[in-house]
Amino acid sequence: TDAGSDSGDTGSAAEETISIGFSQVGAESGWRAANTKSIQDTLTQENGFDLSFSDAQQKQENQIQALRSYIQQGVDVLAFSPVVETGWDAVLEEAKAADIPVILTDRAVDSDDDSLYESFIGSDFVLEGETAGEWAVEQYDGEGYQVVELQGTTGAAPAIDRKAGFETAIEGSDLEIIDSQTGNFTRTEGKQVMEGFLQKYDDIDLVYAHNDDMGLGAIEAIEAAGMVPGEDIKIITVDAVKDGMQALADGKINYIVECNPLLGPDLADVAKKVIAGEAVEKRIVVKDKAFDQEAAVEALPSREY
Ligand code: AHR
Repeated sequence: TDAGSDSGDTGSAAEETISIGFSQVGAESGWRAANTKSIQDTLTQENGFDLSFSDAQQKQENQIQALRSYIQQGVDVLAFSPVVETGWDAVLEEAKAADIPVILTDRAVDSDDDSLYESFIGSDFVLEGETAGEWAVEQYDGEGYQVVELQGTTGAAPAIDRKAGFETAIEGSDLEIIDSQTGNFTRTEGKQVMEGFLQKYDDIDLVYAHNDDMGLGAIEAIEAAGMVPGEDIKIITVDAVKDGMQALADGKINYIVECNPLLGPDLADVAKKVIAGEAVEKRIVVKDKAFDQEAAVEALPSREY
C-alpha cells in the first residue's frame, strides 16, 4: 500500500491508498458501459484507491495478460469480471502465490477451488433466466408458441445461466425454443442473428435475448423485415439499461428482467475489508427487479443508467 498519497492524509493505516488492478470484459453493451462507469466513479483516489483499469475486448487471453501484468506490478488487490467461466485456475494460482487477493465482479469462474478468490459480487443469472421464462409462460399459456433465443457470449456465465434458468421455467409449457444462437451481447450481432432467424422461420412468436443490446438489434431486424416488434413478435430481454427501458416504454420490447450494473460500491467495500483483514462474504448476490411497459414508463425518468 501507498501510505499518505492523499493530500491531507495523516498516514493512519485506515487511510492508506489501495492499489487495485481491474480487468473489464470489454465495452460490448450499455450494461457494460454503466458497470465500467460505476467502478471508475467509485474506486477513486478520493475514496482511497489507485485504480488501474483495462478493457479485454471480450478476449480471455487479454484478461489473463492484464491480470499477469497487475500481479507483476504488485497491486494490493486484483478484481475482474471474467469473460468466460473456465480456464482461470493457473492465473488465479499465480495471484495466490503472490499473496494478492482476488475479487470477482459480475461473472463467476468455474473452478473447484474457491480459495482462489475472496468474494464474488454479482446478480443471480439463473434467477434472471427463470424470471424471463416465467413471464413468457404466463403470456402464452394454452397455445404452442415458437421462441428464438439470442444467447450472450459463448461460455460466459450470464449466457450459460440465463439459458438454463429460462429452460427450467418453460419446461412442460407450450413454449418451444426453435433456435438459439450467440449474438455475443452486442447490438450488431443480435441484429445479424435475428436477420438469419427471420429468413429461416416465418412463425416466430417470441425473442428471448440475453441482454437489451441484442434485443435492440433484433428490433432493427424485425422492423427491416416489415414487422412490428412487440406486436408481431414479442421480445423479452435482460439488463434494463436506458435504451432497453425506452424500447419497453415504447412497446417494442414487452418485458425486461433487470441486471444491476452498479457494482462499484460493493467492490470498494469488499476490497477495503479484505485489505483490513476483515471477513467478507464469499458470495454477494445483487438483487434485481423486472419491468413491464407501465413500470418502465414510471422508472425511466429517474433511471441512473
Ligand atoms: O455479465 C453481464 C452481462 O454482460 C450483461 O447482461 C450484458 O449486457 C453484458 O454484456
